[in-house]
Order: sequence, then structure tokens, then C-alpha cells
Amino acid sequence: MTEHLTVVRHPLVQHKLTIMRDKSTSTAGFRQLLREISQLLAYEVTRDLELTTRSIDTPICEMDAPALRGKKLALISILRAGNGLLDGVLELIPSARVGYVGLYRDEETLQPVQYYYKVPDELEDRLVIALDPMLATGNSSVAAIDLLKKSGARNIRFLCLLAAPEGVARMKEAHPDVPIITAALDDRLNEKGYIVPGLGDAGDRMFGTK
Ligand code: URA
Repeated sequence: MTEHLTVVRHPLVQHKLTIMRDKSTSTAGFRQLLREISQLLAYEVTRDLELTTRSIDTPICEMDAPALRGKKLALISILRAGNGLLDGVLELIPSARVGYVGLYRDEETLQPVQYYYKVPDELEDRLVIALDPMLATGNSSVAAIDLLKKSGARNIRFLCLLAAPEGVARMKEAHPDVPIITAALDDRLNEKGYIVPGLGDAGDRMFGTK
């Protein structure tokens, strides 16, 4: 992937996103749409994966058939909202390895603090896809990618549902080598750090919390 930011403008993605943005959409509806949309985004984020060939026997004859090359992908959920994307992506790539990064914001320093970190081994040999539905300020995304790089990851992509220009700029400054794939680039952040027009708090909407 060469572009730093890819907005997936597929009509199905855009239609599903509109329903997700609508505040009258139920928790169950939101979760189901997130699962569906994450598969369409996963299709995009993996469209240039390298292939090799494998010799197989069809019922008719032998053939050298295309197969994914290299080690299994690593999907990294940035807790907690990343789990909503993870479910759908895993359905499409069931053999992927899975890791979790948990960060909270220190109320005094406003900096992300790590509370959980468990990732697959040999990250340096895998395509690593970091998952977080909302790229808002970019602080936690940048911190999560810092940690993944410390663990050896060299080929990382960031998959989100919505991005704010502020978050994209922050990521570009800190991690210009990490392409971002999103369903939409929204207008801005508001004073509380929410994406505008956005969809509200993604975690609350998918888990039914307040
Ligand atoms: N996180 C969210 O869940 N929503 C936003 O708008 C910004 C960050």
C-alpha cells in the first residue's frame, strides 16, 4: 500500500455507515453493521497481499493454485472498541493471529497508559493490522503502534471506521509508514474529542453502555 490514507468509498460501506451514524439505530443493529462493514474494510486492507502457488488436485486434474504467501497475519484489537472490528475481520481471515492492546488516558497528563498488552510472536515477519473504529486525536493509536514497533512489527496497517483530520495528521507525523484505511474522513474533533459528525462513542454504541 502506497497511500497514507485510503477512504473506502464502496456504496455498501457508505450505506452501512450512514445507518451506524444514525442515533436511532439499536445496539444490536450497530453491532451487526460493524461486523458487516469490517469485512468490507478487511477486503480492502488485504487487497495487495502477496500470493504464491500451491500444488493441489481438483476432482479433474492437478493444478498450481494461488495461496497466501508468508506467515499468518496478526490482527491487533485496540481495546475496547477494536473488538467490534475484530469479530468481522476474523470471520474473513479465520487463521489470523490475534493480539490486544489496552490503553487508558491518564486524567492528569492526558497521555495514554498501557494496562494490557499481549501480541502474537514473530510480529516482524507478519502483516500486522491494528484495529480501532475511531481515529480521533490519534494519541492512543500512535501509542499502540509505538508498542507494536517495539515488539518488532515492521509492516503495520491501521484499520478504522471513521477518522478525524487531527488523528490522520498525528499518525502521519508519528508513523508515516503506517497506511490508514477508513470508511470516512470526517470534518473535525469537537471540544470533548468526539469526531464530528461522527457516530458518538463507538464502544458505548456497540456494547450498549453509557
Ligand atoms: N472515540 C469514540 O468512540 N468516538 C469519537 O467520536 C471519538 C473517539
